[in-house]
Amino acid sequence: MEESKLRELLQTMSLNEKIGQLVQLASDFYSDTNGAITGPMAEMGVTDELVTNSGSVLGATGTRNVKKIIDSQLKNNRLHIPLLVMADVIHGYKTIFPIPLAIGCTWNPGLAEKTAEIAAHEAAVSGIHVVFAPMVDLVRDPRWGRVMESTGEDPYLNSVFAAAFVHGFQGDNLKDDLNRTAACVKHFAGYGAVEGGREYNTVDLSELRMRQEYLPAYQAAVDAGCKVVMTSFNTVDGIPSSANQWLLRKVLREEWNFDGTVISDWGAVRELIPHGVAENEKEAARKALIAGVDIEMMTLCYPNTLCQLIESGEIKESTLDQAVWNVLKLKNDLGLFENPYRGADEAQEQKFVYCHAHREWARRAAEESCVLLKNNGILPINSSKKLALIGPFADHGDLLGAWSWQGDPKRTETLTEVFSAEGINVLTAKGCEIAESKSKLLREAIQKAEESELILLALGESSEMSGEAASRTKITLPECQLELLRLLKPLNKPIVIILFNGRPLELSEVIDDADAVLEAWYPGSEGARAIVRLLTGKVNPSGKLTMSFPQSVGQIPVYYNANNTGRPESENKDEKKYVSKYIDCANDARFPFGFGLSYTSFEINNLRMSKKSITVNEEIRVSIDVKNTGDAAGAEVVQLYIRDIAGDVVRPLKELKSFRKIYLQPGEQQTVAFQITERMLRYWHPDLRFKSDTGTFNLMIGQDSAHTLNDSFYFRATGGMDA
Ligand code: BGC
Ligand code: BGC
Repeated sequence: MEESKLRELLQTMSLNEKIGQLVQLASDFYSDTNGAITGPMAEMGVTDELVTNSGSVLGATGTRNVKKIIDSQLKNNRLHIPLLVMADVIHGYKTIFPIPLAIGCTWNPGLAEKTAEIAAHEAAVSGIHVVFAPMVDLVRDPRWGRVMESTGEDPYLNSVFAAAFVHGFQGDNLKDDLNRTAACVKHFAGYGAVEGGREYNTVDLSELRMRQEYLPAYQAAVDAGCKVVMTSFNTVDGIPSSANQWLLRKVLREEWNFDGTVISDWGAVRELIPHGVAENEKEAARKALIAGVDIEMMTLCYPNTLCQLIESGEIKESTLDQAVWNVLKLKNDLGLFENPYRGADEAQEQKFVYCHAHREWARRAAEESCVLLKNNGILPINSSKKLALIGPFADHGDLLGAWSWQGDPKRTETLTEVFSAEGINVLTAKGCEIAESKSKLLREAIQKAEESELILLALGESSEMSGEAASRTKITLPECQLELLRLLKPLNKPIVIILFNGRPLELSEVIDDADAVLEAWYPGSEGARAIVRLLTGKVNPSGKLTMSFPQSVGQIPVYYNANNTGRPESENKDEKKYVSKYIDCANDARFPFGFGLSYTSFEINNLRMSKKSITVNEEIRVSIDVKNTGDAAGAEVVQLYIRDIAGDVVRPLKELKSFRKIYLQPGEQQTVAFQITERMLRYWHPDLRFKSDTGTFNLMIGQDSAHTLNDSFYFRATGGMDA
């Protein structure tokens, strides 16, 4: 629709119709819009009129169902404004990909983009217009269940993935490409920093830290053209995001020029009351709208009070109009005024959703996202050996993770099924439930293990143990699974552990007792197939962690890109006491950021730099030789880090600035080149300027963040390069 027509439409809307556009309700409210609304919905204050005026629906899906809802809305709505359909399609719709934390471990943004493209395709043909993804919160606390939704602890890597996901969902021409959806980056902002890792808890970050580390990934999503931004549940400098003018107006709209739509998270507008920044719904609505929340998800502060607020002059109608405009514009950008169904198409839905080609991509993504944490040489397995496959995940289809409401664990192949399909004999036993010991199961498992020559032990967290509202204080495997391991260990057979989980776990006991450990995360619809191919060596593991694994929960947060202190342990080797450390645990992670093994070995040599000193418009070309020195083909991720030795504020010990994933045949060598530019050296200064400054920088290149080849260079700033 022409923008002028859209403006006219806005002018013809009544106050209630305008407010309706800002209301988002779950799909249950639309099941029968012609009948009277009763029960809990009526109690919530939802009326037929409100449903008819509402602008968007959450969680409606399935072409037939969505079309019915859209039809009835078009018929009942006085101005026939099409309904916007939004849903949580986080790492796949029905073809479920590995969880985002696992996708991060692929270090393959192109693959991440492909997963988002497929997720968008399946969602779009099923009637969804906007997906609530990507989630790009920086995460450093594995107690927080939602770390599974993020790509990890690094601002740069998260930014790269944020842009890749957005591009995958939206494509290059959203309006006409009906197989794409709009993306909604979330949760803006800083939700990953909840105190103590406790869900929905307080966040309090300095503005410098927020800008330096937490905001870049959201900004990268916005820069990639992301259409929608979702506010987070937490406070930002004392003010919940959904009432935070600094965040939503100054940073998002003014600094980043975001001209899309802002939606609250589920119930977050009304939550301003328990947060203690609003006395009642009216104040919550006023604060949220003024701060810049356009759509209120699932509470009714806007419809219950905005009319009054406008009539009393407490809110200007122009403020309301701007929010309504942001919603109408999104509908128009999606072409809904011409085609309210958009991609919804039953034939396409039948053809593409969960199709073979999509599942092949899910398998590839799972293969690249598993991380080999330990291997004393037992992997890849020799499948002519007598194998026992033991553990609660041995024959379990819940490999999909908590954000896979459309995924079907019953349709998902289990490890046992895949081994059998591949003609590999395994003796399967459960050993225990995920969180419960059963002596009968234990006895069976021990018996099968005794008959075997090699034990494959499939352990992990149930999918409800991570994700939203699943914070944990003990992040070990459940005790019954550790007990199972303890009983199998004395049999003196090699043990290979395959882990299914949504967070970095505390694994000391598991690592010590196992001969090999493969971190499989929640690997998705084709996870079992991918794992069997990895275990048998058809595919060589190449995943690298993007979130550190702690040695002990007491170290949390432990992350690679930390600041130095005035008394760093590593630089005061002779001082045993007065240095920054614990007296009962080392400082470093159990497995650092960037870590992951392969069935082959790689050597990195011959670091060279085109110059050792640059000014603003110059670059250093850095090259390094990478050689596959083992006997399997494989992929290596070469990681480039820098350290700014002295800044105006303290600077991290290491910051990832670039990386390259390369595939090498046995014996093959390749030279990998990087450019170092002034842009990479910028950071936020105390006066809130983002710029670089003169000084020495360390350069580190390696296979993980803890093992690098090092050199240094000098940067000379010549006035006037403030960004
Ligand atoms: C979650 C969001 C999600 C929304 C809609 C909220 O509880 O925090 O991530 O998109 O629900 O389902
Ligand atoms: C301590 C101070 C103490 C000073 C002099 C420092 O190591 O942190 O608390 O006053 O030594 O003994």
